[in-house]
Amino acid sequence: MISLRPLEPADAAVVASWIDGLDALVLWSGKAGFTWPFDAGQLLAFRAADPARRLLVADGPGGRPIGHVMLRPDAAPGAVRLGLVLVAPEARGRGHGEALVRAALGAAFADPGAARVTLGVYAHNHGARRLYERLGFREEAVHADSVEVGERRWTSVTMVLPRPR
Ligand SMILES: CC(C)(COP(=O)(O)OP(=O)(O)OC[C@H]1O[C@@H](n2cnc3c(N)ncnc32)[C@H](O)[C@@H]1OP(=O)(O)O)[C@@H](O)C(=O)NCCC(=O)NCCS
Repeated sequence: MISLRPLEPADAAVVASWIDGLDALVLWSGKAGFTWPFDAGQLLAFRAADPARRLLVADGPGGRPIGHVMLRPDAAPGAVRLGLVLVAPEARGRGHGEALVRAALGAAFADPGAARVTLGVYAHNHGARRLYERLGFREEAVHADSVEVGERRWTSVTMVLPRPR
């Protein structure tokens, strides 16, 4: 069982160190407005700009963060948006991503007003899509050419998980 805690300023540099280029930055953060080269200051400024953005980290056995997520109110009433899901590259493929998202869902649905959790994922991010599907998310909409990454355009998918009964 993984537990989440609010991101501390010192964690931001650790999280930023997991992003190794423009593609990784956009894959992770979509249209959050970050720019490459990415750094801790951008993540902290992003949170400071809107206190409704809950940036959360999970610690590994050594006490260092191994995962990061964000929860924030979605534009649609009753929905919580899950975003900025990231596991340290060296810790991937061991179930931490699933545990991290499960913990985030627990935190989201702890709010009795949360009827569903939504997220956006790029269509070619097959591993992340499999992870969300394993946890019960279903595709709600496909947005062609949702973002420009250099000369390329990426399609995104909105996924939704209703509050479990
Ligand atoms: C997407 C992401 C969060 C997944 O994290 P993760 O820790 O690798 O996730 P998991 O370990 O739970 O699952 C990944 C795979 O490992 C497998 N796995 C889980 N535990 C395992 C274990 N003990 N041994 C072997 N494989 C295992 C899972 O079955 C899964 O397999 P699949 O790829 O065939 O579906 C991670 O890849 C990441 O940070 N990616 C970059 C950022 C990103 O794309 N974020 C999502 C934006 S929407």
